[in-house]
Amino acid sequence: MKLLVTGGAGFIASNYIRHVLHTYPDYQVINLDSLTYAGNLENLKDVEDSERYTFMKRDICDSHVADGLEFDAILNFAAESHVDRSILDAQPFLQTNIMGTYNLLEVARKRNCTFLHVSTDEVYGSIEDGFFNEESPLMPNSPYAASKASSDMLVRAYVETHKINAMITRCSNNYGPYQFPEKLIPLVILNAINSRPIPVYGDGMNVRDWIHVVDHCKAVDTVLHKGTSGRVYNIGSRNEQPNIDLIKKILSKTAEKLDLDENKLMGLINFVEDRKGHDRRYAINPLMIEKDLGWKPEMTFDEGIEKTIEWYTTNNQWWGRIISGEYIKYYNLQYGERLDT
Ligand code: NAD
Ligand code: TYD
Repeated sequence: MKLLVTGGAGFIASNYIRHVLHTYPDYQVINLDSLTYAGNLENLKDVEDSERYTFMKRDICDSHVADGLEFDAILNFAAESHVDRSILDAQPFLQTNIMGTYNLLEVARKRNCTFLHVSTDEVYGSIEDGFFNEESPLMPNSPYAASKASSDMLVRAYVETHKINAMITRCSNNYGPYQFPEKLIPLVILNAINSRPIPVYGDGMNVRDWIHVVDHCKAVDTVLHKGTSGRVYNIGSRNEQPNIDLIKKILSKTAEKLDLDENKLMGLINFVEDRKGHDRRYAINPLMIEKDLGWKPEMTFDEGIEKTIEWYTTNNQWWGRIISGEYIKYYNLQYGERLDT
């Protein structure tokens, strides 16, 4: 197959492209990415010379985005993806996540190719008990989640109206290598290494279900090859944790790995004002992809988080360049006056 992957310089899609190139010796991948603050071509340095891989700097909102290219399927990972940024300024989220998806749906319609839309469990909103399934109503609470829910609705409409072949995946929180360091897990590891305060929103009891990015990539790939058009597939790993427990676990493992004083790292924990509209708990039921398509997460959380800490502590060139630039600007804007340093 020849795959058109959008957002391939970001966290999840760079892992996906690596997975495809290693798994299928005859597949080709075209990576379209506009290289926003979150896009980094170094994420794919190890495969950039492959004859089966092509990068093009293109914006998914541009109606000529796929001109001159041939492919069998579009996998739409490109998005503005950070909830906190969507609270500061929602405009780029509406533009890329909604208009960009519309634009790519038009490409899929005209080219008659498969469309796989990578969405999120955040479209369902917050749930106190129990689990969301694929039929649960969409109740997004952040501008980010609302923009993703809108794009999901557009995909549905194109299946119903234009009969395009399209699937939607809704995954829980990802962690692993190459994640931009303003998201919780890399932020905790890197702030621990750099003795910087770790901002914990509210009481730290918000719950997320964490999945290793490679398990998510394998799930997306399973849906691409075996999924049914018009369906939504929830992807999760049944690994719920309150933020504060997760943070303490990471600090403890980082202290052990680097032979640092654990109490000192715990002392970096800094409770700050809560995020506006902060969803209390995300929880989805991934039974459909498990039963119908035979996918299951393979990585335990302990194994995945240890590998992730290992990755961030040995790839300081990668994050060093990032945290000296855009990340620091954002961090100061977000936390400058809130942290008790
Ligand atoms: P990311 O922010 O790390 O990467 C996004 C990529 O998209 C970047 O490379 C960026 O340059 C590119 N991009 C942004 N706007 C673009 C545009 N207009 N045209 C072309 N490229 C553009 O995001 P991520 O965490 O890798 O998330 C990827 C996808 O997975 C998103 O659709 C997100 O909603 C979804 N998702 C993420 C998570 C998570 O925990 N990170 C969980 C579930 C679903
Ligand atoms: P995040 O990685 O932004 O993912 P999402 O909001 O999409 O789930 O945040 C994960 C959780 O961690 C969320 O409950 C917000 C919280 N959080 C903090 O407490 N401190 C932080 O600095 C960040 C970035 C997040």
